[in-house]
Amino acid sequence: MSETILDIRGLSKTYKGGLTALDGVDLQIRKGEIFALLGPNGAGKTTLIGAVCGLLRPSGGTIEAFGLDTQRQWRKVRQRIGLVPQELSFDMFAQVEHSVNYSRGMFGCAPDPKRIEQVLRSLSLWDKRDAKIRELSGGMKRRVMIAKALSHDPELLFLDEPTAGVDVELRRDMWRQIGALRDAGTTIILTTHYIEEAQEMADRVGVINKGKILLVDDKDAIMAKLGRSEARITLTEPLPEIPSALDKWHLTLEDENRTLVYAGAEGEGKRAAAELVKAVVAAGIGFEGIVTKESSLEDIFVDLVEGREGLAA
Ligand SMILES: Nc1ncnc2c1ncn2[C@@H]1O[C@H](COP(=O)(O)OP(=O)(O)O)[C@@H](O)[C@H]1O
Ligand SMILES: [Mg+2]
Repeated sequence: MSETILDIRGLSKTYKGGLTALDGVDLQIRKGEIFALLGPNGAGKTTLIGAVCGLLRPSGGTIEAFGLDTQRQWRKVRQRIGLVPQELSFDMFAQVEHSVNYSRGMFGCAPDPKRIEQVLRSLSLWDKRDAKIRELSGGMKRRVMIAKALSHDPELLFLDEPTAGVDVELRRDMWRQIGALRDAGTTIILTTHYIEEAQEMADRVGVINKGKILLVDDKDAIMAKLGRSEARITLTEPLPEIPSALDKWHLTLEDENRTLVYAGAEGEGKRAAAELVKAVVAAGIGFEGIVTKESSLEDIFVDLVEGREGLAA
């Protein structure tokens, strides 16, 4: 079990006007991991990041980063954190390299052109170093945001919806970049409402909705615990009822008794379907098609957020 780099306890935020955006959040982030905070719009993701990065004052709770209290040792903490905000924001007329250098200076770090060159190269921005930011495409602008966030070599990097509005190709590219950062030792917390992003990138996933954390676990454990598989067999004729020979499968009939449905644990679907088909044939039932399906993190996420099946542990 690795060291905790960020320790959030009982964090609450009620905005002026009375909206509670965070409601008693407990969250521990491990050094070196990629943690995906997954939740629908308005769940409180940006508020959570804002609280950790000192952009807003929590209403309650404590946040420790690197073993330091973020309220009391603010400057020390902030120097070690990088933030790529959700909204693109910079001086559009500034040049790329200048802007990244400037960010480094803002954190009180001595200029280090070699390091900035490395950062720009790693993000494929070196060729664009003299370009004005406004001349760049949306995806390139986002890379500049990342370069700025990396300019002072943060140990903990927040990426707030890093690929929102980015096309599929750039998204994959961004995932590669984020993976490379993790490989270089940076701890990464990203927020997303793209389930695919969490599924591809994360070591652990936290699901947040209405300011509350519903679930935190290893991505693979979530899939194993909550994942489901399904086999659907389309019959040539409607079946009045399920023959007792098939009882052990606990099947159901759907589509006006034209489809036999098997539901099992994750990863079982294909094997179960193969055995089931033998049993269906032996029972003399005619069929014309079989589909097997493994549930994705997306199905699990929708179940959780909609509060189905009491999945929230
Ligand atoms: N400055 C603010 N003042 C009042 N309400 C806010 C403010 N910022 C966010 N909210 C509200 O807080 C809730 C959580 O917002 P946010 O943290 O941005 O969610 P997310 O990033 O998950 O989409 C939303 O209902 C949002 O409307
Ligand atoms: Mg947000």
